[in-house]
Amino acid sequence: MKVFITGGTSGIGLALAIKYLDQGYKVGVCGRDLSKVPTAVIEKYNNNLSLFQVDVTSREELKSSIAKFAEGRLDILIASAGISIPHKKTLPDFDRAHAIINTNVLGLLNSFEAALEVMLPNKGGKLVAIASVAGMIGVPRAAAYCASKAAVIKFCESLTVDLLPKGINVITIAPGFIDTPLTQQNNHPLPFVIDSSTAAEKIYVAIENNIPLYIFPIPMKILIYFLYFLPRWLYRRFMMFIQWGGES
Ligand SMILES: NC(=O)c1ccc[n+]([C@@H]2O[C@H](COP(=O)([O-])OP(=O)(O)OC[C@H]3O[C@@H](n4cnc5c(N)ncnc54)[C@H](OP(=O)(O)O)[C@@H]3O)[C@@H](O)[C@H]2O)c1
Repeated sequence: MKVFITGGTSGIGLALAIKYLDQGYKVGVCGRDLSKVPTAVIEKYNNNLSLFQVDVTSREELKSSIAKFAEGRLDILIASAGISIPHKKTLPDFDRAHAIINTNVLGLLNSFEAALEVMLPNKGGKLVAIASVAGMIGVPRAAAYCASKAAVIKFCESLTVDLLPKGINVITIAPGFIDTPLTQQNNHPLPFVIDSSTAAEKIYVAIENNIPLYIFPIPMKILIYFLYFLPRWLYRRFMMFIQWGGES
């Protein structure tokens, strides 16, 4: 069995790579900086782990890396590559916004496209998107990140219907806070935070069970649905009241 993980050099992607390697899968991992992958992991899983230095925004490079890894067979593609650039000001920073949308949205499109070229002829496979609970609400000072994850959630919601008759399961994962280098750059509290290997266990089970949208951990799921269903004027008041770690 073969799984390719974008953004597998660190955090959730790396934890998932280790989980699948432990299950005996052949795992392909990509990132821009392969030196992030711990030497101990490379040495332990040498035979089953393939590393590809590729930026997910490079459509053709990603396509050729995935094709090279798959050699005609790919069971699971996990699009975990993503960035969240901390932004303390209330005014939007459009350079950061472009970078976030490029990686989180276009990078995911490129990953799915490349994987489908292998999966469709085989009439089977799973496309997994690591979105975020941030895609369900507009978090202050994280507009581009929230927009990028909302785009991913809705893109996958459509595909989960479109691709099922072709034998392709589309699975969206919406985690709350996970302790990774991405969240370690934040200066605000991380409610209900969990570690990356616990997250990988939960994501693995959700993928096994083909859950179309998996939101976790449960306390964050309850909080996010509460915020999602609040009348928007009340949501705005609530968010202006808490105003985490920023400047105006
Ligand atoms: N941590 C959380 O609380 C949390 C919550 C919800 C959702 N998420 C999502 O989970 C995913 C993984 O995040 P993480 O927390 O594990 O963060 P992370 O530790 O910073 O990992 C991000 C990964 O993405 C890769 N990456 C970034 N830009 C890339 C690009 N242009 N091309 C290829 N690879 C790229 C990084 O590798 P290189 O630097 O080597 O390129 C790294 O492997 C992201 O999509 C994030 O939005 C995280």
